[in-house]
Amino acid sequence: METTEKYHFDVVRWFSVAAVIYLVVGTLVGVIIASQLAWPVLNFDIPYLTFGRLRPLHTNAVIFAFGGCVLMATAFYSVQRTCGVKLWSNKLAWFTFWGWNLIIVSAVITLPLGLTSGKEYAELEWPIDIAIAVVWIAYTVNFVMTIANRKSSHIYVSNWFFLGMMIMITYLHVVNSLAIPVGMFKSYSIFSGVQDAMIQWWWGHNAVGFYLTAGFLGIMYYFVPKQANRPMFSYRLSVIHFWALTFGYVWLGAHHLQYTALPDWTGSLGAAISIAMIIPSWGGAINGMMTLSGAWDKLRTDYVLRFLIASLAFYAMSTFEGPIMSIKTVNALSHYTDWTVGHVHSGALGWVGMVAAGALYHMVMKLWNTEMYSNKLINTHFWLATIGTVIYIIALWISGIMQGLMWRDYDAFGTLTYTFAESVAAMHPYYVMRVVGGFLYMLGGVVMLYNVVMTIRQASTNPSTSAEPARA
Ligand code: HEM
Ligand code: HEM
Repeated sequence: METTEKYHFDVVRWFSVAAVIYLVVGTLVGVIIASQLAWPVLNFDIPYLTFGRLRPLHTNAVIFAFGGCVLMATAFYSVQRTCGVKLWSNKLAWFTFWGWNLIIVSAVITLPLGLTSGKEYAELEWPIDIAIAVVWIAYTVNFVMTIANRKSSHIYVSNWFFLGMMIMITYLHVVNSLAIPVGMFKSYSIFSGVQDAMIQWWWGHNAVGFYLTAGFLGIMYYFVPKQANRPMFSYRLSVIHFWALTFGYVWLGAHHLQYTALPDWTGSLGAAISIAMIIPSWGGAINGMMTLSGAWDKLRTDYVLRFLIASLAFYAMSTFEGPIMSIKTVNALSHYTDWTVGHVHSGALGWVGMVAAGALYHMVMKLWNTEMYSNKLINTHFWLATIGTVIYIIALWISGIMQGLMWRDYDAFGTLTYTFAESVAAMHPYYVMRVVGGFLYMLGGVVMLYNVVMTIRQASTNPSTSAEPARA
């Protein structure tokens, strides 16, 4: 099959299926840790299963296993289609696939064992960090060389977003992971004190800005016009979006460190640029949505498009909430509370998860040259994901703001009104609510996996038929 195809799509197929499997695994671990917060007995006093060890397993599984496979599948797919050429090296693409999956397996083994560098979203120890750099560079080189070989004269905007992500993540990952090893699985960062904090959050925010945002915007700019079968609303706006995002995001890290030992002005600068980021973010979201202008009726029948457009609504929402949270007076209330976790998941579940689902459904149909096994199940997934996300974020808005207000409340004598334990007890109903929302979201992933597996089975037994048309 491989040799007769116009493009190298086999590796894209494998990345796509892996992404759907990791969606289910990553959200399952999310539901487990959410349940542990509601019912601590579920830690079972087994060190490998405690919240502290499973939490980084969840973040690594959803961001790097699920998100990474989505980014690799979509970048390798769209770069070939937009440049009109095969991938520069199929072998290097397979190296990327197996290398990335080996890294995921190493994370699954080392994190529950408690082997961690302790840096958020960069927990993996130094040998794995080196492997990440090598595989990521292989991914980047293949992408760049494919663009260099392109048949079209210009470089389509989605490729700019992917490229911005690849270059920035290489740089951020390498610098933030610089460490002195003292054993096979133990190292110490070369940075210390405030420098360490600043470098960590320079990485941390840009992992959000470039990995979870720029990369997924690359996906949006390719798959929204394709699925809607219309040109992007404004190509000029997309180019402005790209440059404004690239120059703005790198300044935001300090908004994670308000009221710390960092110089005060760094937090103010971080907040000022964060607020300015509303403009490119909303410009991009509106650009994506307006691509449907004059064809909104498609949303009634095209469930894949629903995923893509709903994701843009969540993108707009989280990129409004984030800048507000960066303002010092708001951050004084929100920091350390569940409001932050709620903000994270409105971006992660609503934006990243939904735009990824839309792109994956689109690709599965194209890659296997068939309609989806069940169109109804795409709709079921859409509603499970949407309702799950809304329940999750509403629960954490309430619990987060309540936490913040309880912690700062004091009486006429200046004594704190509530003990910390009282605030923990008050969170319980909302933590249960999050388990319910998360479970629905995960169930959506299971429905998607079933639908994808059945589609592939159907395509391999009878390539030209499908049970129901995916687009009316
Ligand atoms: C213009 C856009 C955005 C701005 C200005 C922004 C701003 C912020 C702020 C102020 C915080 C809280 C920092 C703290 O108190 O510690 C935060 C946390 C976070 N945001 Fe955003 N946000 C934006 C968009 C997004 C999006 C779209 C996503 C997800 C895809 C996201 C993911 C996160 C994550 C993962 C954290 C938690 C970091 C941690 O403490 O571990 N953000 N963001
Ligand atoms: C079924 C869905 C999910 C559930 C139930 C869930 C649950 C959780 C829980 C309980 C935490 C720990 C919060 C804490 O420490 O207080 C967490 C953290 C986190 N999750 Fe999820 N999660 C889900 C899906 C996802 C997805 C799909 C992504 C990304 C694409 C994601 C990204 C994150 C991140 C970045 C953090 C760290 C947040 C921070 O440090 O503030 N989660 N999640």
